[in-house]
Order: sequence, then structure tokens, then C-alpha cells
Amino acid sequence: MSEIIDGKKISAQIKDEVKEKVAAYAKEGIEITLAVVLVGNDPASAVYVNNKKKACEYTGIKSLSYELPEETTEEELLELIEKLNADDKVNGILVQLPLPKAIDEQKILDAISPLKDVDGFHPQNVGALSIGKKGYVSCTPFGIIELLKRSGVEITGKNAVIIGRSNIVGKPMAMLMLRENATVTVTHSKTVDLKNVTNKADILIVAIGKPKMITAEYVKDGAVVIDVGIHRMDNGKLCGDVDYEAVAPKCSLITPVPGGVGPMTIAMLMQNCVNSVEIIKAAK
Ligand code: GUN
Repeated sequence: MSEIIDGKKISAQIKDEVKEKVAAYAKEGIEITLAVVLVGNDPASAVYVNNKKKACEYTGIKSLSYELPEETTEEELLELIEKLNADDKVNGILVQLPLPKAIDEQKILDAISPLKDVDGFHPQNVGALSIGKKGYVSCTPFGIIELLKRSGVEITGKNAVIIGRSNIVGKPMAMLMLRENATVTVTHSKTVDLKNVTNKADILIVAIGKPKMITAEYVKDGAVVIDVGIHRMDNGKLCGDVDYEAVAPKCSLITPVPGGVGPMTIAMLMQNCVNSVEIIKAAK
């Protein structure tokens, strides 16, 4: 029978640790500021951005909010980013994704100073992660590492299978698990005989974006299962990429949806904001 990995509890601990560090910096006269940029009217993005601002309030990080209309041009957004890059009072810059279709997302992410890239999406930070240099790490995979470590999961030498190869989760997750000495396999929609591969996983990390796709046949007895997906079902309830009821009895540990990976992303964003102080200082 499985135990739950409580993302709500672990994220609350991390936010409390961040709050203490922010207070300690404040005593030294150092204030931490996050600029949050939202373009357009995507309702889910508005909720995420609001939660990020609330977490800032809780931890004592100052947040600056930029809410721009749907018609904002790429040039206008680039101008704002340049201004924030040059502002010594701003530690971190977060541009909420997705952006309106008329704006080239990668061009915007590339324009954010790598020293203020608290999302860890800039090519320089992605590269730093892959060669083991210091830098910002993408918040969701960074949070999954914390969930595993704080739940006492041994990673070294384990078979870790990741389902999904996105730039935000799958790829950085693979790099992080490698850094923790796991033997890593990355699978995706074109993988042949996925079940055969996932059945070898001691740690299975699912970020495929399909509700309840991972059923019991995909999971080895005693595996640790991390579910990154979040979907609203017709009955109004939330579910993940994993069929929780079917899979949970088979694993040793599993993250629920909601209350698993979700709350960790914002906690790690707060952690990255704290890390910005050292990252910016080291570059001076
Ligand atoms: N949209 C969905 N997830 C994220 C995230 O982690 N960061 C940003 N900036 N946008 C997102």
C-alpha cells in the first residue's frame, strides 16, 4: 500500500524557510523583488500569477505586477524586459506563459537577463544545468527533486523513467535526475512499447498531459510515482496524468492531484528569488 507525498506540506515548509532567509537578508538591508509580467486574458494564467503574488506576500518578497493587454506587441514587451533587466532593484523577472500568438515566446525568454531568469528558461541556464554549473533551475522539476529528497527517496543508482520531453519539465527533469546519479530514461509520444519501459522504473515521473493515461499496468510494484499533470474532469474534479485510484495501491509513494507537484512550483519560484541574491552578486 502506498504513502502519499504531501506537496502541500513540503511546499509550506519551503516557503517558511524562504521567509526566514528573506527576513535575514532584510536585516542586512537587502530587499528581494520579483517582477511578474502577464500579457492578455488567459484565465488560468491570471490565477497562477495571482498565486505567485500571494506567495511573494507571504515570504516577504516584494512583487511588481505588469498586466499588459492582449494587443501588446513583441517590441513593447521587449522594451519592458530591457527596462527590468537594467533595474538594479529587480532581482527576478517572470513572464507568464503562454503568451498571445503574435508574440514569439522564445525571443522573449531569450531577452530576459540570465541573472534574473527565476523560471530557469533562458538557454544559458538550461545549458548551465546540463553541464553542472550554477544557475537557475526550472521550478517544477526543481520542486520534484525536493519532494523526493524530503520524502527520503534514495535517487542514486535508481532507474528513473520520465514520460514527456518538454523544455519546462521533461528535459530539465532528466538533467536533474542525472545530477542526482539516477539512471535516466526519457520517453515520449513516439516511444515504442511504453509500458515495457515504465515497468522498469523505480521512480516514474509523468508529465505527458493526458488525463489518467498511466494505469496500473504501466507501474512496477513498489515504484515511486510523481504526477505532474493537472486536468479538470467533466464532474468538476481535478485529476492528473496518472489514474490515481488504480495506481496508488501498487506504489510505495505517490503524489496526489491536487496537493502533490502543483504547490511545489511556486515554492521553488520563491526559492529561486532568494537564490537570485547570490547569483547576481557572483556575476558582479
Ligand atoms: N506557464 C505554465 N507554467 C509556467 C511556469 O512555470 N512559468 C511561467 N513563466 N509560465 C508558466
